[in-house]
Amino acid sequence: MSSLMFYSLAFFLCSCFTLSNGASDPNSIYKSFLQCLPAQSSKPDPSISTIVYGSVTNSSSYTAVLQAYIKNSRLNTTSTPKPAVIITPTKESHVQAAVLCARKLGVQIKIRSGGHDYEGISYISSEKNFVVLDMFNFRTVNVNIATETAVVEGGAQLGELYYRIWEKSKVHGFPAGIQYSVNWNEGDPKPEQNYLNQSRVLYKFMTEYVSKNPRGAFLNYRDLDIGVMKGTGKSGYNSGKVYGEKYFMGNFDRLAKVKTAVDPGNFFRNEQSIPVIPGSKSRKMTTLN
Ligand SMILES: Cc1cc2nc3c(=O)[nH]c(=O)nc-3n(C[C@H](O)[C@H](O)[C@H](O)COP(=O)(O)OP(=O)(O)OC[C@H]3O[C@@H](n4cnc5c(N)ncnc54)[C@H](O)[C@@H]3O)c2cc1C
Ligand SMILES: *[C@@H]1O[C@H](CO)[C@@H](O)[C@H](O)[C@H]1NC(C)=O
Ligand SMILES: *[C@@H]1O[C@H](CO)[C@@H](O)[C@H](O)[C@H]1NC(C)=O
Ligand SMILES: *[C@@H]1O[C@H](CO)[C@@H](O)[C@H](O)[C@H]1NC(C)=O
Repeated sequence: MSSLMFYSLAFFLCSCFTLSNGASDPNSIYKSFLQCLPAQSSKPDPSISTIVYGSVTNSSSYTAVLQAYIKNSRLNTTSTPKPAVIITPTKESHVQAAVLCARKLGVQIKIRSGGHDYEGISYISSEKNFVVLDMFNFRTVNVNIATETAVVEGGAQLGELYYRIWEKSKVHGFPAGIQYSVNWNEGDPKPEQNYLNQSRVLYKFMTEYVSKNPRGAFLNYRDLDIGVMKGTGKSGYNSGKVYGEKYFMGNFDRLAKVKTAVDPGNFFRNEQSIPVIPGSKSRKMTTLN
């Protein structure tokens, strides 16, 4: 190892240690981000403080931004865990800076691209300290009828995509949004009963179409009841395997290898992310099969 590399590594570990010790309450996490973000860019960016919402400092605009993409009223409550900070990038360098700072500060980063996730894990977390990178400013939709393709940025909503397609074509479409809109727990048990009943009807209807041995059907739908990641190392891997093999079947092993190669420290993680293979050193992508 070259001495330069050693020193930068040592420096990185040290700054990680001191900063993550200092940044344990929402307000100091906000202050640390305000300090850290401009330092990631070689050019001064005076607008950077206007994309960072602290839960204490900017409480009313913070709440407005947070609620804007909570689609599920079940998760729109005061007891729902809240991020210390919301970062709303307007350009790519902001995204890079946010990722680097979350890593330096030792804070989990959640990424919200529309907030459609049924379990809301793009904006809630089981970890105490987390920040949300909210992609709603990235919502360009480019439809190319000649090639029958659309390039859609992560923050776009389904309705915007439909609209842009409809503008250019009366025969093209995109199949999405076929599930029920999940809006229960409205204080009235009737809608909940009704949705449960509808689920049972659908389940019965689909039974003859699903595969046998194993019996299953692919449903594009997150469900934390299938299992969540618990702990790190062996325990993280074993718990991740439970939902990982159900969602991805034979692909789970390959996904875990890729994860281990590109993110051995499990920086990008959520309640149902792909776990790192314990005890293996990070490998080069070329050794994957
Ligand atoms: C009414 C409704 C209808 C739906 N219909 C369909 C459908 O027809 N077909 C279908 O396939 N799905 C459908 N979904 C499911 C929805 O598309 C998925 O929940 C999907 O995860 C939404 O993506 P999102 O990025 O908007 O969600 P988010 O809640 O923002 O994120 C989902 C997950 O991805 C992570 N994430 C988000 N952005 C990034 C990023 N840029 N980089 C890394 N990680 C990121 C988040 O942290 C989170 O874990 C529907 C959902 C609803 C509410
Ligand atoms: C949050 O509050 C601080 C202090 O008042 C202010 O400088 C900053 O611009 C606010 N951020 C946003 C995104 O409004
Ligand atoms: C979330 O709560 C706020 C305030 O209580 C409300 O204005 C907003 O409409 C709610 N959003 C949803 C999706 O229920
Ligand atoms: C749900 O189904 C049960 C049993 O079939 C029925 O008694 C009940 O009225 C239904 N509820 C709703 C809200 O549809």
